[in-house]
Amino acid sequence: MIAKRFARVELSLIRQINALATPLSTNLGIGEPNTEPDETLHEFARRAATVSWHYSANAGAPSLRKKLADDLNEVCVTAGTQEALYAIFQAYVDPGDEVLVPDPGFVAYATLAKICGAEPVPYPLQPPAWDLDADAVISRITPKTKLVIVNSPSNPLGAVASRSALEAIAEAGPLVVSDEVYRQLWYDAEPASMRGMSRKVIVIDGMSKSHAMTGLRIGWALAHPDILKPVITAHQYIATCASVFSQALAEMVLDAKEWNASWLERVRAQFRMQREVALHAIERELEVKIDAPAAAFYAFVPVPSCDTLTFAKTLATDAAVLVIPGAAFGMNGEGFVRISYAASNEAIGTGIERIGGWLRAAGR
Ligand SMILES: Cc1ncc(COP(=O)(O)O)c(C=O)c1O
Repeated sequence: MIAKRFARVELSLIRQINALATPLSTNLGIGEPNTEPDETLHEFARRAATVSWHYSANAGAPSLRKKLADDLNEVCVTAGTQEALYAIFQAYVDPGDEVLVPDPGFVAYATLAKICGAEPVPYPLQPPAWDLDADAVISRITPKTKLVIVNSPSNPLGAVASRSALEAIAEAGPLVVSDEVYRQLWYDAEPASMRGMSRKVIVIDGMSKSHAMTGLRIGWALAHPDILKPVITAHQYIATCASVFSQALAEMVLDAKEWNASWLERVRAQFRMQREVALHAIERELEVKIDAPAAAFYAFVPVPSCDTLTFAKTLATDAAVLVIPGAAFGMNGEGFVRISYAASNEAIGTGIERIGGWLRAAGR
């Protein structure tokens, strides 16, 4: 018999869509960068493989932690941002608590709240700009609110929150988790970090998106040592420590400041181009003009369907293109699909053309 805490956890809609992929599908459902390691990164990886294979300290190698914060006691290195989230929820969320989550927002937040027996309380983000409205968050805080989750830049929206909204939320009272895993992937201006905005903020970040290291599982949580202590304990029982190979690699990346700056510039330039291709195709083929996403690699696009799960499944089977239904990200996502432009220009063009062709053939 399955544990009660997992009874309310469903297979994510993203998995349901991906299950419909065939070799002929164009995949615009992707949640990871289409960048490949360059020779320098490969060389770092070769060197990282020769560093210790033994456990590191639970919270991560001190040398890496020192590079991530002035005080190494403010860092817990984790097996990706996802594990940081899991450890934080385990450390802080009890049955009956409330967790404020963005809607639309990354699927894991509400699910993790449910696993802890807590209630996810969605706060709305509104089209077309999807600005984070601090009042929409603060007005939903109750004595039961244990955590507030903020995600800027946002998956699935690509939207960036204003510094003033982030500051207001940091000061609101409850513990805040600021998921900044997309913060390096910006186009015009660097998104604000919540780091240091208040003692009650935990920032989580990692190298999955910035360095296309999704499979290497390297992330971290940054917070005041008192706040972080139970998170490190949870992390100890989840993962013991993050992979020492990935930790060594992360350290080399952070040490190579010049290379790293140019890598990030190149990655941003690549996504800036792919964003242009996607926005043009969306306007031409889907006849909608959306606000250009300020960061990350997602376009959240309105579609003429009030059941986007069925719509996305139909596109997968009839038009051989994978997109993620907006409903996967919460009720406010209904009526939209998430198009990932972490794909080749050709795939972006073909995929969006196929959606347009299908819509025209269906008379929509
Ligand atoms: C908003 C957000 N947070 C966290 C994660 C998890 O990333 P990681 O690979 O660092 O665990 C993802 C991955 O898609 C994400 O989109």
